Amino acid sequence: MSTNSPLLLVLSSILLCGFLTKITIAFLIQEATIDDLQPAFKRKHLTSRQLVQFYLKEIRKLNPLLRGVIEVNPDSLYLADKADQKRKAKDPGSLHSLHGIPILLKDNIATKDKLNTTAGSFALLGSVVPRDAGVVVRLRKAGAIILGKASMTEWAAFRSKFLPRGFCGRKGQGRNPYVLSAGTCGSSSGSGISVAANMVAVSLGTETDGSILCPSSVNSIVGIKPTVGLTSRAGVVPISPRQDSVGPMCRTVRDAVYVLDAIVGFDYYDNATRGAQFLKPDGLIGKRLGIVRNPFFKFYNDEGSVKTRAFKHHLDTLREKGVILVDHLEISNIDTIINFTGSGEYNAYLAEFKPAINAYLKQLVKSTVRTLADLIAFNKKFSNLEKTKEYGQDTFEAAESMSGADKLLMIAVANLNRISRNGFEELVRKHKLDALVTPYDFGMSSYASTLLAFRGHPGITVPAGYDTKGVPFGICFGGLKGTEPKLIEFAYGFEQATKIRKPPSFKP
Ligand SMILES: *[C@@H]1O[C@H](CO)[C@@H](O)[C@H](O)[C@H]1NC(C)=O
Ligand SMILES: *[C@@H]1O[C@H](CO)[C@@H](O)[C@H](O)[C@H]1NC(C)=O
Ligand SMILES: *[C@@H]1O[C@H](CO)[C@@H](O)[C@H](O)[C@H]1NC(C)=O
Repeated sequence: MSTNSPLLLVLSSILLCGFLTKITIAFLIQEATIDDLQPAFKRKHLTSRQLVQFYLKEIRKLNPLLRGVIEVNPDSLYLADKADQKRKAKDPGSLHSLHGIPILLKDNIATKDKLNTTAGSFALLGSVVPRDAGVVVRLRKAGAIILGKASMTEWAAFRSKFLPRGFCGRKGQGRNPYVLSAGTCGSSSGSGISVAANMVAVSLGTETDGSILCPSSVNSIVGIKPTVGLTSRAGVVPISPRQDSVGPMCRTVRDAVYVLDAIVGFDYYDNATRGAQFLKPDGLIGKRLGIVRNPFFKFYNDEGSVKTRAFKHHLDTLREKGVILVDHLEISNIDTIINFTGSGEYNAYLAEFKPAINAYLKQLVKSTVRTLADLIAFNKKFSNLEKTKEYGQDTFEAAESMSGADKLLMIAVANLNRISRNGFEELVRKHKLDALVTPYDFGMSSYASTLLAFRGHPGITVPAGYDTKGVPFGICFGGLKGTEPKLIEFAYGFEQATKIRKPPSFKP
């Protein structure tokens, strides 16, 4: 990193002295944030058309290797021109932070345009959605340019437990831009890959349990899983209506908050409603942050590891910035919470998926599949289409054939609610915590996302370092429902104090 950036600076200043202004722009766009891009638009150093052209070029160059993008919007340049015209005409709408900014959507978020919405599966290719997803309506209103759809773990990993994370029939295996062989995590894999590799400015993912937080962490970006219900799930291919949430995946906390503000629908003309007000430099002072060592900091016993050293340093940094660390906390029922089958989590998904997916398929204007049974039949019949066939569809089949689903769901959800209340929620209340902090990476046996998942609590991950091979890891701040303002303060305070993110280097 430290050897790379000055090199780029020298290179771009040489080019500035020459005539290749176009290439100079390209260097400026790399890693550019919304706060870099909007002033560049305003000062006429950059147009949305140039920005879209840059990303399209990067997608052509990098996507054959990374497979983060599943489809590019054929209308993206037309949309960019419209955004440029609006800005030129000083249309008040062009003042929004997202105006003219290209965004990539996970392939399970419906758009009523030339793009398909397929959850990575051939079964939905050519299906027609009735309307834009709720979050897409808001993005368009804010002036964002839908650049395309991101690849994902097919059906958000619900088709089969054997499906590799980041793999879908339509695009194949997505790759981590930092270390290609490292894995991308799922299921919002393409959103993570593409933002990390600068193939787009910002993106959206979805999470049921970890699908935003994990790919954000391992692709060294910022991911926000909002409180369930804060962002609309209308028009999003579902798993569990009780747990699904749509959220931003971006290179900085500030970008992520701008995107969150747009999809939540905070009013530009009422600043009191905006999440951006919580991006403040002194937001950490006096905040109480909990640490649960078992199971999240078990690695701390290994004094020599990069991760241990990084987190010791990070906790010191947070303390120096005024955070009160409440260490050595325990969640009494943690073993039950992180037991996927024992907690009821798996049964709840199985029971919830079938009615939810059937309702989604039913409302499509056009589709060759209308029910989960149709999906299973499609996968069997067209298994030649699907490189996925070797992974089967055991989860689909289990959901389809579940008997007594209603009763099992009632029992499972009652248990999930109880263990969430007695576990994470009780801990936060008892110790008056503002949030819980955990690492977030591949090496973990269990993830903070599960503490947050059962009752719709929010979380944010921020880049926290790179292991000896260069594989990224993140730090996650999780809190009770509606605590996004506090989590944003933690995430922003940490990011500004550490500035860890660096662009990927495509190591093998
Ligand atoms: C959507 O899928 C159809 C095939 O049904 C394909 O012809 C079309 O190009 C796809 N759209 C995009 C934007 O790739
Ligand atoms: C809201 O805040 C933005 C950024 O600080 C500022 O430009 C804008 O004028 C404010 N709007 C109102 C209505 O106060
Ligand atoms: C998870 O729960 C199931 C069912 O209660 C139990 O059989 C299993 O041993 C548990 N697994 C672990 C690792 O505790």
